[in-house]
Amino acid sequence: MFPILAGFLHTDRPTREMLYEHQGIRKFLPQLEDSLADTADNRAWERFSLDLIHLLEHHIEHEEDGLYLVFERLF
Ligand SMILES: [Fe+2]
Repeated sequence: MFPILAGFLHTDRPTREMLYEHQGIRKFLPQLEDSLADTADNRAWERFSLDLIHLLEHHIEHEEDGLYLVFERLF
């Protein structure tokens, strides 16, 4: 889907941003299991979950407000 979007927009910047955000989210995943297991350290879990939630919220908003609207026009 990204090559189609980049071709339509005549730039790959938005898709590179999406891929960068995906990489950022993926970096959190190895820590997720440890954070869930370590219930003794609530502050660490709070920090971790807030960082991940903010990143996911931003990314989903980015997709819903930009990417999906363009795809609705294309398909
Ligand atoms: Fe995504």
